[in-house]
Amino acid sequence: MHKELADRPDIITTEIEAIGFYRKMDTKATVEEMIAGKYVLVEEFYSNGLQVLNELRRNLLLKYQDKTFQGQRDFRAAFRKASHRLLLKVKENKLVVKKAPAFGWLELLYPDVSEFYVAFPEVQGMNSSWQWYEKGLEVKTLNLTLHPYYGTYFPTRFDHLKLFDKWLKKYEGSKENAIEIGVGSGVLSFQLIQNGFKNIFATDTNKNAIIGVAQESKRLGFENIIELNHGDLFENCNTKADLIVFNPPWLPAKHTLEEGIDKAMYYEEELFPRFFEQALEHLTPEGKIVLIFSNLAEVVDEETPHPIIEELRANKRFRKELHLKRDVRASSRRTKRRDAREKEKVELWVLSPKVK
Ligand SMILES: C[S@@+](CC[C@H](N)C(=O)[O-])C[C@H]1O[C@@H](n2cnc3c(N)ncnc32)[C@H](O)[C@@H]1O
Repeated sequence: MHKELADRPDIITTEIEAIGFYRKMDTKATVEEMIAGKYVLVEEFYSNGLQVLNELRRNLLLKYQDKTFQGQRDFRAAFRKASHRLLLKVKENKLVVKKAPAFGWLELLYPDVSEFYVAFPEVQGMNSSWQWYEKGLEVKTLNLTLHPYYGTYFPTRFDHLKLFDKWLKKYEGSKENAIEIGVGSGVLSFQLIQNGFKNIFATDTNKNAIIGVAQESKRLGFENIIELNHGDLFENCNTKADLIVFNPPWLPAKHTLEEGIDKAMYYEEELFPRFFEQALEHLTPEGKIVLIFSNLAEVVDEETPHPIIEELRANKRFRKELHLKRDVRASSRRTKRRDAREKEKVELWVLSPKVK
């Protein structure tokens, strides 16, 4: 599975017609060309690319002054489109420009090609993802540092892990088989392993999550305990589990979802009904579902239905065993904000199937 190519930013491998950008050139005129549809290639220093992007932002802010939600969305779309016409050249899997950041993704994600053009914002994204991958993310609940793979969701706040840990420590049922849907960076599966679960089947629709967790499991010596599958929900899962764990996306999507991180944040209407229907088929008679959720969507808009409460109300398939809540701590005490996030709580739901 992990020999497969990862999802990675699009590249251009053919020769292209582009305006070469040098630091003494007219940035304003260059940006106008980019907006009109021309490619621009940063030729000298990496920082020249930043200079062009700053000018592009300034230019588009003047054109997109509408501060409504839609107006801001239009601005971001225009910026995204034009900024992706700003290119960097890669040779021998390294950026050619001077004073460019060095990061390993150009080699690791492109083992099949060494010379190509890639959009500047994608390079920025790869560079910041590399910092996390290299340095690692310290997860105190696990007493581990994890190395999240490119394009994978990983937690930056840990309240839900603490809640899950508290519950796991009291769990007295069988620990033979667990299924995790949406494994992400592997945090919840690793918690299950550390708490004595013997076999875990973990899935994700994001191919990079599967590649990353395969690497991490190997590094941590968990590879015989965890079986990974790139797929939708319970696809290719033939076991019945004592525990099914899912930390789903927390916000209803108002747009068409893209593969990758988008599906970690937003859910389509059908996700929860499909999950509950399939979960029922994959539970032992004594089995339980543990869902991590948040009231974030309700805090933003009171009318948003809560998909777990909806399931319990509309279908008589599951019984609520437990519903724990925990305040979400501000990520930094100094920047404590007085906004919707103050009312935010993470939730842990335990459901068991009703006897048919
Ligand atoms: C909020 S993240 C949670 C990741 C990790 N379990 C954690 O707790 O940090 C949700 C994960 O579910 C995955 N996902 C979304 N829809 C899915 C589906 N239909 N089947 C499998 N995984 C899905 C996303 O790609 C993402 O990795």
